[in-house]
Amino acid sequence: MPTPRIGLIIGSLRAGSFNRQLAGAVQALAGDRFVFEEIGIADLPLYDQDDDADFPAAGLRFKQQVEACDALLFVTPEYSRSIPGVLKNAIDIGSRPGGSNSFGGKRAGVIGTSPGAHGTVSAQQHLRNVLAAVDVAVLPQPEIAIQYREGQIDAGGTITDERLRRRLQSFLDRYEAWLAA
Ligand code: FNR
Repeated sequence: MPTPRIGLIIGSLRAGSFNRQLAGAVQALAGDRFVFEEIGIADLPLYDQDDDADFPAAGLRFKQQVEACDALLFVTPEYSRSIPGVLKNAIDIGSRPGGSNSFGGKRAGVIGTSPGAHGTVSAQQHLRNVLAAVDVAVLPQPEIAIQYREGQIDAGGTITDERLRRRLQSFLDRYEAWLAA
């Protein structure tokens, strides 16, 4: 089987994003099991249904990247007990214009980290609801909601927290087997 091409969508625009750091560590841990390609969301305009007939170029680029990948991996923080607005906006764009849902039939993994005690649990539950609405199947378990702590991942992107490394390894094993099934 060819190596799965994974479209990586990061729900934070922040330069020093912990979720971007986590995404890098997951890619390093996965080695050559997947080919990752980030699908950027920073340049997407706010979705406006009036633009459906003349869809924005950045939106078309986003949709094409989603369509080209075999599966998706969302890595997102939690904002106000939900997903960041920029991520919801990206999903709205990818699912439109009506009849042209680029997410249809895709599979996805969902992980994330926030400093809060529940480490993105609420955001991930909301994201699962949103993804169901755009016909994306999400790996049910293991849930990987990480309470961010300084030093879990070093400056070189290596996971130094052994328990976290084992959790992410188990996630990657299940994700790979599920995509292959
Ligand atoms: C937050 N943060 C946050 N954290 C959390 O665990 N639960 C929450 O409900 C919220 N709400 C929230 C709202 C807004 C508007 C901001 C800006 C932040 C904290 C947030 O998760 C933290 O800043 C993360 O570090 C953001 O992720 P990145 O950018 O580091 O990947």
